[in-house]
Amino acid sequence: EERLEAIAALPKVELHLHIEGAAPPSFVRGLASEKRTDLSRIFRPDGSYDFRGFVPFLETYEAATSVIKGPEDYARLTRAVLEEQAANGVLYTETFISPDFCGGGDVDAWTDHVAAIRETADAAERDLGVTLRGIVTCVRHFGPDRARKSARCAAETAGDWIVGFGMGGDENAGEQKDFAWAFDCAREAGLRLTTHAGEWRGPAEVRAAIEDLGVERIGHGVRAIEDPALVDKLVDKGIVLEVCPGSNVALGVYSDLARHPVERLRAAGVTVTVSTDDPPFFHTTMRDEYRALARTHGWDEAAFADLARTSLNAAFCDAATKDRIA
Ligand code: ADE
Ligand code: ZN
Repeated sequence: EERLEAIAALPKVELHLHIEGAAPPSFVRGLASEKRTDLSRIFRPDGSYDFRGFVPFLETYEAATSVIKGPEDYARLTRAVLEEQAANGVLYTETFISPDFCGGGDVDAWTDHVAAIRETADAAERDLGVTLRGIVTCVRHFGPDRARKSARCAAETAGDWIVGFGMGGDENAGEQKDFAWAFDCAREAGLRLTTHAGEWRGPAEVRAAIEDLGVERIGHGVRAIEDPALVDKLVDKGIVLEVCPGSNVALGVYSDLARHPVERLRAAGVTVTVSTDDPPFFHTTMRDEYRALARTHGWDEAAFADLARTSLNAAFCDAATKDRIA
């Protein structure tokens, strides 16, 4: 329909995108074949990623990531991701990159990876007109020791391109407070903070993210809807949710978009942004997310213009960068 296509074409801002999770299956299959690594177990016969449920998703994600290795591989991945962002009208993106996957927590190896990714991003900014910034992420199920290493790497590269620190991975592993040292280290380096919470565990986990880690944004956070007092708190504190509706439906957090709380959270006054998380894994794109929200929740052009403005406002980059994009 014409109206949906006009909406899908609107300029966008995406704040929650895992770089390895944005790797198309064909990209990973190509690297696996170059490196003579058998990854056939993670692909379905139709070529898509194979998993069923969240922990199997993380396993498939990590298997795919195992063939994306040096700075050169990450540079190629960055180029592919930014071409996709351009095709989706995403003018500004924040992507999660992890020292666990880029150099294994070694500061020098990490610095080389960041330099290669950033150089590719700068080139894409010139020829595609899209902007990228990095959020260093630790992986919850890898534990607090490796998170501390990641935070030290993050602190080393903090600046106008590495703008934040966050945590993804299995929300059921340990507690947010186990990672307080890593988040304090990142904060002291001037980084802005976000953590995955309230995707699999309930409202208490979202409270822990705010109270124990002091984050200003939350990855997902959607299960906050189960506690009205917490919803009020998100509104009062201006906490930003990085909502990924297609991801939540693909992984079974909600059975369909009609039952997804994104519209109730927005209507309650929570600062909601919309992202894809790991688009090829979940068979989604930013254009798809826009179409689906327009169709299912009746969001119109004005709502999406508001979303883009709110999202850019919630970005971790400096004000001069925001001014250039707005
Ligand atoms: N890493 C990549 N995608 C993720 C998700 N949806 N939740 C937690 N960790 C992730
Ligand atoms: Zn995520």
